[in-house]
Amino acid sequence: MTPLRKVIYKKDKFAKPIWLMRQAGRYLPEFRKIRKKNTNFVKLCLNVKNVKNITLQPLKRYDLDAAIIFSDILMVPLGLGQSVEFKKNFGPFLGPVSIDGIKNYDNRLFKKKLDPVYKSIRNVKRDKLLKNKDLIGFVGGPWTTLVYMLNKSSPKVKLGKIFSDKLLIKDLLKYISNYLTLHIQSQIKSGVNTIQIFDSWAGLVEDKNLHEYIYKPTRKLVEFTKSLKTPCICFPRNIKNYTQYTNNVKPDVISIDYNVNPNEIAKNINIPIQGGMNPKILLSNKKNLEKHTNTYLRIFEAHPYIFNLGHGVLPQTDPSMVQYLIKLVRKFNERSS
Ligand code: CP3
Repeated sequence: MTPLRKVIYKKDKFAKPIWLMRQAGRYLPEFRKIRKKNTNFVKLCLNVKNVKNITLQPLKRYDLDAAIIFSDILMVPLGLGQSVEFKKNFGPFLGPVSIDGIKNYDNRLFKKKLDPVYKSIRNVKRDKLLKNKDLIGFVGGPWTTLVYMLNKSSPKVKLGKIFSDKLLIKDLLKYISNYLTLHIQSQIKSGVNTIQIFDSWAGLVEDKNLHEYIYKPTRKLVEFTKSLKTPCICFPRNIKNYTQYTNNVKPDVISIDYNVNPNEIAKNINIPIQGGMNPKILLSNKKNLEKHTNTYLRIFEAHPYIFNLGHGVLPQTDPSMVQYLIKLVRKFNERSS
């Protein structure tokens, strides 16, 4: 059984596997080298050879339990015909969107546009570095994907007026969810054995809209993923009530951010838990890293727990700190087994 499945299906409390969001990426010199030669980030995500290499980079360096396919949540808008660009020091920048266009979009065209993603998954899956490890595929949550498609960039403070049109939002969530489902299905068919749903902007939704905008559509994706005998991890960043989210969405694993009190989570949630530690801790020193890592490991000692951070690895991170973090988690495992 692969490391994540031991925790998710067997509820193994001693395993404490580790992988990190953004474990491949800008903090690694070997990534930056490839990135320098590939100035177009979208094209890089669709380059089968590079995607394979980048996905495996952290596994070559570190003793991690899983790989996450190198891609982006904005591949779905791209597959739906919306233009997506990544501008330096700005982030994603999306083009105009046609609601009717999405409603009547051709599934085959969507799959064809994203075929390099699926091909990359098949290639990565075959590599010997993945022996007895998990390969994680992912999508953005329906709400987060919609936020990017309508807002056209990362939201700053407040969402625009268009987000108060409830009928439009509800319809769009439905249409977008169809393609998120298709993307999940195609990734699983190609070889990923776990799905993570990134709902980075879940924290922007008002309480009164949580059911319609977050819980209902996400639960559908979770149910679909589970129906393919694949575990589903949900990461609703900055959500106020993780217990309510978990009870409504019913993921296999709940991934927590660093603003939430891990003691409260350990007390109130009884499904496997992932993550939590602030990625900034990796920017401090080894002693401080040891202190915080052990805090999370101890809090979740009696819990099925996957070690991860409360958000992605920061670009300024020293790779040797990641190495040390993994060593600490392994050391804790040896002690408690
Ligand atoms: O986790 C991994 O290592 C897998 C690859 C991955 C990327 N993006 C690669 C990437 C994953 C899982 C994502 C998810 C993603 N993409 C999210 C959800 C997680 C989160 O960060 O909240 C979001 C919101 C996006 C959209 C996105 N992509 C933004 C806002 C940006 C620019 C800012 C940033 O965080 O870097 C990206 C670019 C991006 N996606 C990079 C990487 C490695 C950096 C590209 C570069 O400039 O080199």
